[in-house]
Amino acid sequence: MTSRRQFLAGLAALPLAATPLAAFAQATRRPLAMPPLMDARESRAFGLTAQAGTTDFLGRGGGTTRGLNGAYLGPTLRLATGQVSRAEVRNALDEVITLHWHGLLVPGEADGGPHQPIAPGASWVTDLPITQPACTAWYHAHTHGETARQVQMGLAGVLQVDDGQDDARGLPSDYGIDDLMLVLQDRRFDRRGRIDYDPAMPDRMMGFLGDTMVVNGQVGATAVVPRGIVRLRLLNGSNARIYPLGFEDGREMHLVATDSGFLDRPIALNRLTLAPGERAEILVDFSDGRDARLVSGPNPNRMMGGMMGGGSAERAFPVLPFAVDSGLPARIARLPQDLGGSVPARDAGDAAPRRISLEMPMGPGMMLGMLLGGSVFSINGQSFDMGRTDFTIARGSTERWRITADTMMHPLHIHGVRFAVLSENGHAPAAQNLGWKDTVLVNGQAELLVRFDHPAPPETPFMFHCHILEHEDGGMMGQFAVT
Ligand code: C2O
Ligand code: CU
Ligand code: CU
Repeated sequence: MTSRRQFLAGLAALPLAATPLAAFAQATRRPLAMPPLMDARESRAFGLTAQAGTTDFLGRGGGTTRGLNGAYLGPTLRLATGQVSRAEVRNALDEVITLHWHGLLVPGEADGGPHQPIAPGASWVTDLPITQPACTAWYHAHTHGETARQVQMGLAGVLQVDDGQDDARGLPSDYGIDDLMLVLQDRRFDRRGRIDYDPAMPDRMMGFLGDTMVVNGQVGATAVVPRGIVRLRLLNGSNARIYPLGFEDGREMHLVATDSGFLDRPIALNRLTLAPGERAEILVDFSDGRDARLVSGPNPNRMMGGMMGGGSAERAFPVLPFAVDSGLPARIARLPQDLGGSVPARDAGDAAPRRISLEMPMGPGMMLGMLLGGSVFSINGQSFDMGRTDFTIARGSTERWRITADTMMHPLHIHGVRFAVLSENGHAPAAQNLGWKDTVLVNGQAELLVRFDHPAPPETPFMFHCHILEHEDGGMMGQFAVT
């Protein structure tokens, strides 16, 4: 017999039982807007200008933010695979920036990492040869020591590599109608509605967490979708928050693409965990005509399993409500079976091993380092140094990277490659990590199979780092050349 008390306890244990965040008290039916689409498939050239503007997220006045061709974030840039596109990035800000194409497999000299600063008033022009399969990627500032603040203020945007085959795949592809781009970010705001980013010691240790959900730069909006199958392209563009995502009513999320491209066929999931830097494309069936809510569990990252604190008072919260509008064209009524993508083979053969240990000091060492303002995070015992090439890899070779993250979870990202996740803590990878990846959440230990096909000279090496941006800026980054 189930008593009422047991029943309530059961409810409390539901991982996604949603408790609204403060900002959701006034959730509206204001429709969620997409970032403007900037289609460079015909022109093969595009321009992005980093600029300052004003954004009023909460209707309280707001404050200064940064964006690309706009006040906050940038356009959704669409590039065609098989083409070379010319990028011109202008810096109209009063500080140095860089712009990195996260997920593009381009040579180091086009990568936009910390070695390619763009001075105030200057422009950076580079060619982007797109040889990779279709995927959802993004671009963001990657300035040495300033990445976390610049991205927090808005210097990021979406990049879609397109191969023109989505109709043949049977996928929704009507931007903003049945193919939605969702940039997930959390922010703190002050009383006037300005972004409040002043990381204190715990924020620098754990990574900066917000208390208000922002999607595509908007707070409290509702996604309006047709009564059919809808494609959601999810990007975790947060500094540090990990989102264990699911639908409140338990409806399935059909994973069709991971960071670096399509799977061979959809994988049905009830829960999808998205760490900073990761992308996932899912199909969701709204043909029942019912409204729904995408919700997130609390940030699962705890230092030493919670002994050092870190968001333990958090509850689940809504990410985005969905309202079905039967007047919208529902083009896709059935889930596609064959996506034409691939799942990498998990056969390491005789790939050379490499150990990558993601480290943060504990206790007094951490406190002292933080107080002195130094780089306290490290990889294999060394904090990031612009002047040190950590290793050089022969172009065309394959390596087996064994990553360890002991103190807390760290999302490891590698520039210039896509990789296979061989194992997680000695077991087969989670279903959401079966596809091609460029960022993976390491919770303990993970093994990756990485092939280095794109060149990076020592002057413009590729980075590998934790994508918790406060950790990256704090030194948990390394660089390698591919020659
Ligand atoms: Cu998304 Cu090195 O970055
Ligand atoms: Cu990257
Ligand atoms: Cu980290």
